[in-house]
Amino acid sequence: MAIVRRPRLRLSLHTRLLGALALLVLVPSIVGVLITLTAIDARIEEQAQYKIRTDLNLARAILERRQADLKDLLAELRRRIETEGLWGKPAIDALLERESAAGGLDVALVTDRGGRVLHRINSNLKGDSLAGDYFVRRAMSGRPVCGLDVASPGRLSIEGLRDRAAVGIIETPHSYLIDSRIERRGMLIKAATPVHDESGRMRGVLAVAVLVNRDSSLVDQVRSETRGDNTSILLGPVTIATNILTPEGKRALGTAVSEVVGRKVLDGGELYVGEALVGVREQYSISAYEPIRDVKGEIAGILYVGTPMEPFDVLRRRTIAGFALIALSTLALTLVFGSAWILRAVRPIEDLASVAQRMGQGDFSARTETGRRDEVGVLCVEFNNMADKLQSQIEELGRLNELKSEFIAVASHELRTPLTFIRSYVELINKGAYDGQPEQLRERLEKIERNTMRLSSLLDDLLDLSKLERHELTIHAERLSMRRLIAELLSDVSAAARSKGLTLHTTLPDDPLPVKGDEERMRRVFVNLLDNSLKFSKAGDRIVVTGRRADGKVEVRVEDTGAGIAEEDLPFVFSPFFQTEASIRRTHSGLGLGLSLSRNIIELHDGSIEIDSELGSGTAVVVRLPLFDEGGAVTEGGDKEEEASE
Ligand SMILES: Nc1ncnc2c1ncn2[C@@H]1O[C@H](COP(=O)(O)OP(=O)(O)OP(=O)(O)O)[C@@H](O)[C@H]1O
Ligand SMILES: [Mg+2]
Repeated sequence: MAIVRRPRLRLSLHTRLLGALALLVLVPSIVGVLITLTAIDARIEEQAQYKIRTDLNLARAILERRQADLKDLLAELRRRIETEGLWGKPAIDALLERESAAGGLDVALVTDRGGRVLHRINSNLKGDSLAGDYFVRRAMSGRPVCGLDVASPGRLSIEGLRDRAAVGIIETPHSYLIDSRIERRGMLIKAATPVHDESGRMRGVLAVAVLVNRDSSLVDQVRSETRGDNTSILLGPVTIATNILTPEGKRALGTAVSEVVGRKVLDGGELYVGEALVGVREQYSISAYEPIRDVKGEIAGILYVGTPMEPFDVLRRRTIAGFALIALSTLALTLVFGSAWILRAVRPIEDLASVAQRMGQGDFSARTETGRRDEVGVLCVEFNNMADKLQSQIEELGRLNELKSEFIAVASHELRTPLTFIRSYVELINKGAYDGQPEQLRERLEKIERNTMRLSSLLDDLLDLSKLERHELTIHAERLSMRRLIAELLSDVSAAARSKGLTLHTTLPDDPLPVKGDEERMRRVFVNLLDNSLKFSKAGDRIVVTGRRADGKVEVRVEDTGAGIAEEDLPFVFSPFFQTEASIRRTHSGLGLGLSLSRNIIELHDGSIEIDSELGSGTAVVVRLPLFDEGGAVTEGGDKEEEASE
C-alpha cells in the first residue's frame, strides 16, 4: 500500500481565504478610489471654473456700472449748465469743482465748439485744444459718448494726473514683452456730451473722466461682491489697479502678465481661463483674463479675476480624506467581519484536517464537531460516521486476529490430541505389544478409529465453515425422519452419558416427525448439541431430548442441567470460534464451531435455532424445522433444496 506523504502546510486555508478576500475587496476599492478621486478632481475643477466665470461677469458688470454712473453724472452736469443758463459764465468753474469733488471725478472740462478748453478742474491751464480727442469729436457731432480711453502721458500731465497715473513695472521671468520700466499712460473711464445755450444752440462739449490707474474703489468693490477674490485691471500687460497685496501690505501694482496670457488676451483678444501664478507672492490661482476694449473697440488692457487654488485644494484634500476614511473603514470592517466569517466557515475544515491527521497517526477515537447545518456539517457528520465504521471494523479486525491466534492454539491442540493417541497406539501395535491379545488389540483399534473419526469430523467442520464463508455450502435434502435420527443418536451417546454419570431422558412421539433434510448435515447438528450437553454437564446432571410437532413444525429440544452460559456470552455462542472462558481454558474439547455451523445448516433448511441458558442452571436449545409435506406438494424451501446439490 502506497502511503501518500501529508503535504506541509505553507499557508493555511484561513490565510488563503483571507488573502483572497482582501484582494477582492482591495482591488475594487483601489479602482473605486481612483475613479472617485478623478471624479472629485473634475468636479472641483468644474466648480472653480464656474466660480471664476461668475466672478468675471460680476467684475465686468461693475466696470460697466461705473461707466453708466459717469454717464448719469455727466447728464446731470449738462442739465444744470443748460437749465441754469450757465454757459459762458465763470459759475461753470465752481460747478465743475464742486460736482467733481462730490462725484470723484479726475477730469471735468468744457470746450468750445472748436475743441478749445474753456473750463477745467485741477488746473489753471486753459485754451489747449482737444479738437483731436475722439470723445470730444463724437460729442461735437451731437451725441453723448461714454467708454474707456487710454490717455497719453502728455495728456495726463495737462490734466494734473501724471504722478497718480505712473506705475513702476515689476517684471517676472515669464512676463509679456515690456519696453519701458514705468507705465506712464493712464486708463480713463470717460464720457462727453454736447452742451447747448438757452437758445438751444450747441455751444461746446462737456467731458468728464475718472482715472483707473491706482483706483482701488473699483477692484475693492469687486472683492467685496465676490467675497474675497482677486481682481486687477491692467493697462496693456501691466497691473494699474488691484486688490492683491504684497507681503508688505501694499497693492501689488505694476506686475505684468505672463507671455502666454498676454499673447492670448492682448494679441488674440480671447478669454484665458486656467491656473496661473499670480501676484508678487506668486500663488497659484485659478484665473480668468478678459480683454478690456476702449471706446473704439481696441484692446486697451485686461480685466483679471482670480480665486486662489487654496480653498479648492483644501476642499479636494478634505473630500479625499473623507472618502479615504470611509473607504478604509469599510475595508477594515469588511476584513474584520470577513475574517470572522471565514474563521467560522473554515474552523470545521481545520478541525476535520486535524482529526484526520490524528486518525492517520492511529488514533481512531478522534471525532470532529458536528452541528453545522450546511455541506460542511454534512461532511463532518459523514466523516464521523465513516470514522465510527472504520473504528468498529478495526476493532472487529483486532478481535478476529485474536480469534485467529486463539483458533490456531485451539485447533492445534484439538488436532494434536487425537493424533497423539493414534500415533502411540499404532506404534505399540507395530511393536507387537498386543500380539496374542486380540481383545485388547480390538479395543485399541476402536480407539484409533474413534480418534480418526474425531479428526475427520473436526476437518469436516472446518471445511464446512470455509464453504459457508464462500457461500458455497449447499445441502442435499430428502425426506428425513427426525424421530429415527434422534433415536439413533441417543443410542450412540447413551453409553458415554452413562459413563459420565448423567441421566438421559427422551420423549419422542410415534410420529416419524418428517422433515425435508440433509441427513448427514442434520446429524452433525444434533451430534453437536448432544456433545455440548455432555461436555458441559457433570455427574448427576440430566439431559432431556424432546421431539414433537408444534405449529406445523417439527420441534426438537435438547436440554441439560449442566454448567449453563453466562448472560453476557449468550449473544455470541452462534459466532464461529466463540467459546466461553471455561472452554478456552481447555477444560473441554472443541473449536467453537458447532453452534455456528448448526445455525447455518438449520437456516439452510428454512428452520430456526434458539438457545436459552442460565449460568449454573443449564441450557436449552430448541430447533424448529418445516414439516415434510406428505401429500407430495413440496414446500417452497424444499424446491430450492432439491435443486441444490453438493
Ligand atoms: N449445553 C451447553 N452448556 C454450556 N455451555 C454451552 C453449551 N452449548 C454450548 N456452550 C458454550 O458455547 C460454546 C460454543 O459451542 P460450540 O458448540 O459452538 O463450540 P464447542 O462445543 O466449544 O466446540 P465444537 O462444537 O467446535 O467442538 C461452547 O464452547 C460453550 O462454551
Ligand atoms: Mg460443540
